[in-house]
Amino acid sequence: MNFGRDEEKAVIETMRSKWISLGPKTIEFENRFAEALGSPYAVALTNCTSALHLSMLLTGIQKGDEVIVPSLTFCATVNCVKYVDATPVFCDIKSEEDLNMDINKLKKLITPKTKAIIAMHYGGFANDMDEIVSLAEKHGIEVIEDACHAPLSEYKGKKLGTIGEIGCFSFFSNKNISTGEGGMLVTSNSDLYERAKLLRSHGMTSLSYERSKGHNAGYDVHGIGYNYRLDDIRASIGLVQLSKLRRDLFKRKKVRERYLKKLSRSKKIAIPFRDRKEFVSNYIFTVVLKNSDREKRDYVRSRLYEKGIQTSVHYPAVHRLSSYKKYKVSLPVTEYVSENEITLPMFSGLKNDEVDYVSESLMSII
Ligand SMILES: Cc1ncc(COP(=O)(O)O)c(C=O)c1O
Repeated sequence: MNFGRDEEKAVIETMRSKWISLGPKTIEFENRFAEALGSPYAVALTNCTSALHLSMLLTGIQKGDEVIVPSLTFCATVNCVKYVDATPVFCDIKSEEDLNMDINKLKKLITPKTKAIIAMHYGGFANDMDEIVSLAEKHGIEVIEDACHAPLSEYKGKKLGTIGEIGCFSFFSNKNISTGEGGMLVTSNSDLYERAKLLRSHGMTSLSYERSKGHNAGYDVHGIGYNYRLDDIRASIGLVQLSKLRRDLFKRKKVRERYLKKLSRSKKIAIPFRDRKEFVSNYIFTVVLKNSDREKRDYVRSRLYEKGIQTSVHYPAVHRLSSYKKYKVSLPVTEYVSENEITLPMFSGLKNDEVDYVSESLMSII
């Protein structure tokens, strides 16, 4: 989170405008976000979880359907499949160097019941989208992108989140763009766009804001919708955050380069996506300890903590969480990474000497 005076000013302006729920700021935020991604449509939502839920509804996923998902992700990527009573089918990741789904393993998971693939772009690094899209076309499967880590990240000239049928973004407080809570659904399909707007607001055919402007006298309700609306206070923060994003990502790129310089030669760690050159969000910087186990990883993390370095883990494998244990799958690479990964500090304000301190501390501990 990198809030400054501009975010404060934007919030005060919105409050003083006296329109604080979904209104002009939210619409502007949607337009600017869509423009930044080169996508025709964006729908602002309360969070990415609601975007993922809507992605299941909009693509018609229902009971009996199977949806292929990674397990090395935040649980929301998988929970959304359960919201519509469908079955998540967990796919292992490729390797300690590539933490996205393994396409060869993914191919073997496709059955006549498979209706969608949710590709989560770990750390902002793209899944192999050419392969995923061609598999999906071959089998008549929808592709949903969980692009929470990946605003402005690129894949062969396209922005992540715009390649599948639907892209889902989060503006939670630790994300590249933060509005406290918030999310966005993007699509190039005008029908999905119209339906997403209905589902976001109870299925109502007009918004209070439109009615207040005299654009619509009343409303009808089409289908059962939700209240997944973003509000103008958050959207006004989002607008400032979006305007800073590219600059922020260039600074993160420098932080990543410094880490690579300091850590690349170590034989004791793998650095995921080390050789990838495309423009990415660098949402997190992760390392995976080699020949290690959970106990050793936790020890390294606690020693870093003693040195004043906060780390975290992305992620506890979803298929091993209590709610998902019953699926009884074995995903050896995901399991190893989830027990041996460490997420090091990564934000645009990180200075070279701080990166050096983190890197040298890590090396001396391992
Ligand atoms: C990969 C991934 N998917 C989904 C989510 C859910 O986003 P939100 O908190 O906006 O609902 C997150 C947020 O942490 C995430 O990192």
